[in-house]
Amino acid sequence: MSQKREHWSGKLGFILAASGSAVGLGNLWKFPYITWQNGGGLFVLIYLLCILLIGLPIMIAEIALGKISSRDPVGAFDFVSKRKTRFRYVGILGVLSAFVILSFYSVVAGWSIEYSIKSISSDFKSIPYESYKEALTDDRKVKALQKAVFEEALTQPLTDIEKREILHAALSQKTIQQMPFDEINELFKKEKKNLISLLKENKQIETWQNYFLAKRSKRKDFNEFMHKTLLPVYSSSLFADFLNNWPKVSLWHLIIMSICLLIVSSGIKKGIEKTTKFLMPLLLLLMFFMMINSLMLDKEQEGVKFLLFGDPGKLHGLSIPEAMGHAFFTLSLGMGAMLTYGSYMKKDSDVVSDALWVTGLDTLIALIACMMIFPIIFVYGLEPTSGGIGILFTTLPLELFKFSYGYLLAPLFYILVFLAALTSAISLLEVAVTYLKDEWNLDRDKASLIAAGAIFLVGIPSAISVSFMEYPDALSTNIMLPLGGLLIAIFMGHKAEKTLLENEFIKHKYPKWSFDVFYFTLRYITPALVTIVFIFLLSDLVKKIVS
Ligand code: PHE
Repeated sequence: MSQKREHWSGKLGFILAASGSAVGLGNLWKFPYITWQNGGGLFVLIYLLCILLIGLPIMIAEIALGKISSRDPVGAFDFVSKRKTRFRYVGILGVLSAFVILSFYSVVAGWSIEYSIKSISSDFKSIPYESYKEALTDDRKVKALQKAVFEEALTQPLTDIEKREILHAALSQKTIQQMPFDEINELFKKEKKNLISLLKENKQIETWQNYFLAKRSKRKDFNEFMHKTLLPVYSSSLFADFLNNWPKVSLWHLIIMSICLLIVSSGIKKGIEKTTKFLMPLLLLLMFFMMINSLMLDKEQEGVKFLLFGDPGKLHGLSIPEAMGHAFFTLSLGMGAMLTYGSYMKKDSDVVSDALWVTGLDTLIALIACMMIFPIIFVYGLEPTSGGIGILFTTLPLELFKFSYGYLLAPLFYILVFLAALTSAISLLEVAVTYLKDEWNLDRDKASLIAAGAIFLVGIPSAISVSFMEYPDALSTNIMLPLGGLLIAIFMGHKAEKTLLENEFIKHKYPKWSFDVFYFTLRYITPALVTIVFIFLLSDLVKKIVS
């Protein structure tokens, strides 16, 4: 390490850069999505406990490890141990995680560029006329129409004969044909809920869907009906068409990596700090504006009620591990990102207060994201579980365009996603760059070029196929981050000298009890909890692989 190490200009510089790393797709997409799936309320409480008992202690330990050593994630362990230690492999695992995560993170960040552009053009306002015409020749669209028509028909008054024939097809009992109509009506009411699945079982569903489609198409409002039904199909086929266009997806991936390269190679102060100091306040402002907009729309405040009280019945066996795994991802912990940013801190920085700021801001923004998205879901009765990451790119644009000023709101939203993802992506690249710089003595420019180039290449499979992306995603979130976090907690809690952490509290005049509580949590509670989550996730993964 011949070069003099750069430093953040001050407290604000570090806090904005580190919260830029923490706030990202994890907050905007993943948290609202898993909170919805797990029924809000209690799940949010579990998540907050994970942040407090696992996230915060590791955040303090990781930033402190960086600050104390002023080294990259590999060298930091050696420095604190004062010799070459096996813990350096934790650092290597971290650098590998940076490659793995950024390889797909950059691809998804690229989607947000596409969608910023798409929503400026008029793609989501209406279905082009040609699309209506071709709808009846396109299998997927016909299926969607049939399904919607049948579901609608079941909510409308039907003739007695229709009811009898549907029941006959669904239940395949001969006696139905002879039943008096009042009994038919009774039976129909009773079986209404099960009809669709029964008809599916008996392979009769298509006949009836076609029957109602023919009937429905004679009504005056059929075009309007078609529009309402086909818009989501249209939107998801736009998304699918875009994903299939892999040269374009790769191009956006290349552009994201190039922007990251540009920022990171400009250095800590001139690159990362300057960018995040400008982008983070903008991001906060945008989110705040969109949250107010959503809250005003949702007169009954159903979105907020769901967040606070929710539906605890939706919690399941893996909810707790899911909340814990997400705590790592969203706080950028367990892979050396916070360690790396900490290594550029000045010696007199207050690690404890900075860690509290970053953790608090990330948590606040995750909650704001929910208050921005849930009201829209409730007001428009949309089902957010459809298709994983799709919600951000298939259903949400439609909802945004329902506002009269949707043409403004939608691009704004995707620019927000882009900004949040970008400030996280640069922190991932910085981990690899700092490693190459400190361990291999490369200069920043060369290190940035090599790391960004390699990550671009590793990301190509994710750009070519979305389904491939699941592997690096699951590998990093479920295994690499919890394992890294666990080992960092063990290292700082059991291997490193106690005084190193204690000094961080004493120097800034924190009461003794606060250090004692923190140190005890870091040594025992955090590792125990992470071990439990880790076993849970691992057994789930094994189950998935086996089935
Ligand atoms: N915390 C980021 C997010 O929520 C993702 C990330 C993980 C960034 C690990 C850096 C390191 O999107």
